[in-house]
Amino acid sequence: MSPPANDHTNRQAVAVIGAGYVGLPTAATLAHFGHHVVLAEREQSKLAALRAGRMPIVEAGLDELVAGGVAAGNLHFTDSAVDAVAGAAFVFLCVPTPQSADGSADLSYVESAAKEIASSLEPGAIVVNKSTVPVGSANMVEQVIGRPDISVVSNPEFLREGTAVLDSLNPDRIVVGADDARAAAKVGELFSSTRAPLIVTDATTSETIKYASNAFLATKLSFVNALAGLCEEVGADARDVLLGLGYDKRIGFEFLRPGPGWGGSCLPKDTRALLHIASEAGYDFSLLAGAIASNDEQLSRVAAKVETACGGSADGATIAVWGLTFKANTDDRRDSPSLQIAHRLADLGATVQAFDPTVDAETDVPDLHDLQLQADPYAAVAGARVLVVLTEWDEFRWLDFSRVLAAMAEPNIVDARNLLDPAAVRRMGFSYTGIGRQ
Ligand code: UDX
Repeated sequence: MSPPANDHTNRQAVAVIGAGYVGLPTAATLAHFGHHVVLAEREQSKLAALRAGRMPIVEAGLDELVAGGVAAGNLHFTDSAVDAVAGAAFVFLCVPTPQSADGSADLSYVESAAKEIASSLEPGAIVVNKSTVPVGSANMVEQVIGRPDISVVSNPEFLREGTAVLDSLNPDRIVVGADDARAAAKVGELFSSTRAPLIVTDATTSETIKYASNAFLATKLSFVNALAGLCEEVGADARDVLLGLGYDKRIGFEFLRPGPGWGGSCLPKDTRALLHIASEAGYDFSLLAGAIASNDEQLSRVAAKVETACGGSADGATIAVWGLTFKANTDDRRDSPSLQIAHRLADLGATVQAFDPTVDAETDVPDLHDLQLQADPYAAVAGARVLVVLTEWDEFRWLDFSRVLAAMAEPNIVDARNLLDPAAVRRMGFSYTGIGRQ
């Protein structure tokens, strides 16, 4: 159930800097709540798409949310951050914080955005760090802006790609952190329509909550994948073992699906950034280091399963890959374990015929040159010795597997997402290898 739109009881002027995976859903959500939002995006192609009503990212429900905000006169676009902050009482920084070589977060975009707007900010405006920034960054932004009348508040996002709109309209909690509690509470009020629990704390604690959340989710998944490996060795069925765990309300069923490892633009970046933050603080976060190492091992375990299905070596084998994105329902391939495994198989000398519903086989895709992109899943399996399912696109479940069987050179399936029914595909004559399945 979405919170009420256009709740004018607390209508504020808001600027959002950056129309990416965080900025665009954030701007559209705040407009939906009735605030007057100006979204600044300097990439002309993205801006043109937005002005034409086309979304620059794949997110369910985003086009309607944006269109609603524009139609209500609550959402406007500009290519100038300076113009966007004119008249704004709140300014959300939603610029990239990519991973540096040493694992720390690169704050150069945050710093340059803060510098660019500092002198144009309205007196008493509140700057909000929405991007995931290391512990202590609120102070850095305050120093860069250098104005005693400007407060900086940490307000981390907890959006999952593919469900960013759902997560924005129905957050589990709103976290705001600042040394000025009044400013923090004012930012929290912007989201009052959600009726979500509000945590008001200091900036360092708020920034730590964000990293700790992602690190815990990654650690939970590393445990699940490692447990699946144990199930294979002791002859247990991971699906039923995890069913037995999930009924415990303290564990729950979310984030309990074994796979090729966790990836995406957040978990890998944030886990390494937190490890870096811990080591800088002189804290040995070995548990988190273990979760990261275990995730790298999971990727190797899946690649080894494919090699075994090839008869011991992938060299010279034709291998079909279904799925390249880091998870289903997104077009994002950043830090995708699916893509990393496909590359690894190509590096081992395999001919990798890859299909992903979000990849147009006709276009030249620079990061996929070592793969043979196919226009449909059946073309991908033609002449293949092994089919490996790497991303859990639901459409893969409903394909004609008798057609797949006829097209393959050998009937071997490695299901890295436990997406398929082992008994059903075995009855058709396939050999089936899952994750933690017998
Ligand atoms: C994550 C956090 O969930 C979100 O709160 C934060 O704001 C951003 O990072 P996201 O990266 O979009 O969101 O994806 P998520 O759905 O969390 O999946 C992360 C990775 O874990 C993906 O590679 C996914 O395939 C994998 N995963 C997830 C599993 O392998 N099994 C699961 O059960 C769930």
